[in-house]
Amino acid sequence: MSHALIVEDDRESAEIMAALIATEGFTVATAHSLREARAQLSMNQPDLVLLDLMLPDGSGMELIGENNVLSNSEVVFITGHASLETSIQALRHGATDYLIKPININQLKGILSRLMRPAELQAELSSMRETVAERGNFGLLWGRSTPMQRVYEQLAKVAVTSVTVFVTGESGSGKEVVAKTVHDLSRRRKQPFLAVNCGAISPNLIESEIFGHEKGSFTGAERTHQGFFERAHGGTLFLDEVTEMPLELQVKLLRVLETGMFMRVGSTQDRETDVRIIAATNRDPAQAVAQGKLREDLLYRLNVFPVQVPPLRDRTEDIPLLAAHFLDDISRKEGRAASFTPAALQAMSAHRWPGNVRELRNVVQRGYVMANGPEIDADVISPWMSPNPMPVMLDDAPSVTLRIGQSMAEAERFLILATLRHFDNHKERTAATLGISLKTLYNRLKDYSGDLSASDNSESSMA
Ligand SMILES: Nc1ncnc2c1ncn2[C@@H]1O[C@H](COP(=O)(O)OP(=O)(O)OP(=O)(O)O)[C@@H](O)[C@H]1O
Ligand SMILES: [Mg+2]
Repeated sequence: MSHALIVEDDRESAEIMAALIATEGFTVATAHSLREARAQLSMNQPDLVLLDLMLPDGSGMELIGENNVLSNSEVVFITGHASLETSIQALRHGATDYLIKPININQLKGILSRLMRPAELQAELSSMRETVAERGNFGLLWGRSTPMQRVYEQLAKVAVTSVTVFVTGESGSGKEVVAKTVHDLSRRRKQPFLAVNCGAISPNLIESEIFGHEKGSFTGAERTHQGFFERAHGGTLFLDEVTEMPLELQVKLLRVLETGMFMRVGSTQDRETDVRIIAATNRDPAQAVAQGKLREDLLYRLNVFPVQVPPLRDRTEDIPLLAAHFLDDISRKEGRAASFTPAALQAMSAHRWPGNVRELRNVVQRGYVMANGPEIDADVISPWMSPNPMPVMLDDAPSVTLRIGQSMAEAERFLILATLRHFDNHKERTAATLGISLKTLYNRLKDYSGDLSASDNSESSMA
């Protein structure tokens, strides 16, 4: 039988938690101070420790540091709002999860059920770790470089918890695949995984998209609409480009993250939701805060478990493996085998890949289509890999919507501004992708200055 230790000075809440945990099949001991906790730990090694951070004789953090006494236990911190920052520190030091006071019984139950990892998930995780060495992939993620292996270890660790994950990395580096992998490795995997691109929904619709709305709450709201938070209930919500969310809405997001409660637009009724949040951005989060695009308190709340996806140029040893994987993929779909010549592989390994894995995948697919025969040589793919590449369509990049009859000038403006935004204002990449000179791009931008609202017309497909 599993053993739990509750370290909490408030006797009443310690009793309530003890009762609940006992019904889940644990033997339970309680301690009301660090001293009592040490005494308990010397007698019995718990599988689970619920640890209050503010104890009469010191901080619960002290126990973590002491002689690895908790190294075989799952540690869940209990914290008041004010000390959220401390608990974030604690998570980085090996705690599994945390609870915020006053303790919500449903949250505690959720944590307990997640701690008892199904044997199935555990077995899968260990076989996935073996596959990394053998075949070079961790689920959907390919690569066996040291930086990627570090990412896999982080994902394996965080997936089983309910903790918010914040994924950063350059465009095309694989942030969405990382998010999906966390979901697939969690107990939520049979529930929905919904992705919402905050940068692609017009600012006046985003609140109702995310939180839903009541019938008649605004012109055009003809029926009640369930937002992403309701539809993702029990599952995972991927908030992509979270820095593009309007600041007023960031406040509301913060509230759901802290309390699990939200309201539909046009309603005053609080609703509870059980959604795991994974957020992503290709901006530097600290810079986004400095520029006033991201609320600092939201960054703190999202950044509980940061995962940084390395750019492809920092893991060049993965390039041949990724290229082979994408080639395999398209060969299988098309029913015709192909391979790269050593010179082609050499050229790919030497390229800087500003568009990261997405760019590599596009180059592989184009090479496959353009090659005359089963061998893809360097000269077939190099036009797309030169510093001034031929235009490369980004297959899964956001798209712009145009109306029939719209003027060419307008269409051009939409496309240029949306592409620029996609590349985070990187002018060289934008010009190269659009197949225009940098000078032309600057000229157009000069023409548009003063009328940048057109960029709001971009739309994105959601995975
Ligand atoms: N490690 C990987 N293994 C296999 N495929 C990958 C890997 N990383 C990325 N990809 C593929 O590359 C493409 C881009 O990945 P993804 O959409 O996750 O990038 P992103 O970081 O979210 O980019 P953006 O910031 O532009 O949204 C996808 O087609 C994805 O399947
Ligand atoms: Mg993405």
